[in-house]
Amino acid sequence: MSHAILLLPGDGIGPEVVGQARRVLQAAGEKYGFQIAFTEGDIGGVAIERQGNPYPDSTRHLASEADAILLGAVGGPQWDGLPAAQRPERGLLAIRADMDLFCNLRPALLYRQLADASSLKPELVADLDLLIVRELTGGVYFGEPRGIRELENGERQGFNTDIYSESEIRRIAHLGFQFARKRNKRLCSVDKANVLEVTMLWRDIVSEVASDYPDVELSHIYVDNAAMQLVRAPKQFDVMLTGNLFGDILSDTAAMLTGSIGMLPSASMNAEARGLYEPVHGSAPDIAGQGKANPVATILSAAMLLRYSLNEDRAAAAIEAAVQTILDQGLRTLDIATDDEVAVSTETMGNAVVNALLNNE
Ligand code: IPM
Ligand code: MG
Repeated sequence: MSHAILLLPGDGIGPEVVGQARRVLQAAGEKYGFQIAFTEGDIGGVAIERQGNPYPDSTRHLASEADAILLGAVGGPQWDGLPAAQRPERGLLAIRADMDLFCNLRPALLYRQLADASSLKPELVADLDLLIVRELTGGVYFGEPRGIRELENGERQGFNTDIYSESEIRRIAHLGFQFARKRNKRLCSVDKANVLEVTMLWRDIVSEVASDYPDVELSHIYVDNAAMQLVRAPKQFDVMLTGNLFGDILSDTAAMLTGSIGMLPSASMNAEARGLYEPVHGSAPDIAGQGKANPVATILSAAMLLRYSLNEDRAAAAIEAAVQTILDQGLRTLDIATDDEVAVSTETMGNAVVNALLNNE
């Protein structure tokens, strides 16, 4: 059995963390008897430098041929001055749209070994296990019209359009309920239905879809309250269903509850379960190239890739177990080390996962 995986390391710490995840995938294949054919492409800032486009045709072609994609990160200060349409982030948005990756899963899991690293008191986050299901190809991220225009009085005006059609809401709602069904059967839908029409429709459609899932308990919450509840009592949530922008914001909050954004993987899938997997953290330009980055979020993204796109469930579970092992062994990168712990390098962390994977039962 051979799987084709496209690596898109991207910018900043992307190449370092993807490099370690690649070694882990390779080791998982050796242990569980499958081969991986890796290809590599450009995305984001590096693609702008090399090919003049954050999502070049060469990458689009490689993506169309791959069974699954593992991405590092995009963006950096050197491209901050570019107009919106030419920024590295547009490369990421373009591949999400191009492959119709409307379903973004962002699990926030507290590793008990890291309870002290959380910004909240240990008792508030102990055993935290929540899943954010974020709509990824609609809403204000993609709505037209958008832009910055000049008014008659010479003043500039920026504008975006927050827009969701019924079918877009319905398809992500169904997946939200289905994931809730596999977990603790509680789905909390996030909106701003007290103000925004687009989310009034969101609430209506989600409530309608709920009748297909009588075994799942549905609740609705306004996004401002959701932000507050996440830092007040996060364990009340099981699955949170959100639109694109709210999910972007709430998933970073959820990440910090678990101690470090360096631990959180994500999966972005289309209706055929073809997917792009990436760490929730960004390109972290301040530590890029220094071997300080935590590769675990990318390694856990690789585990999600094996599970959801390649059906290699045993290998996925083994990678997750290997991460538990190295945390038990006390390995910590800078982002998760406490003051009295010595931080190890990106590569040491990756080596440790490979060794744990090969040596665990
Ligand atoms: C994320 C990121 C992206 C987003 C950026 C880099 C375009 O913040 O995946 O959460 O806003 O979706
Ligand atoms: Mg984000």
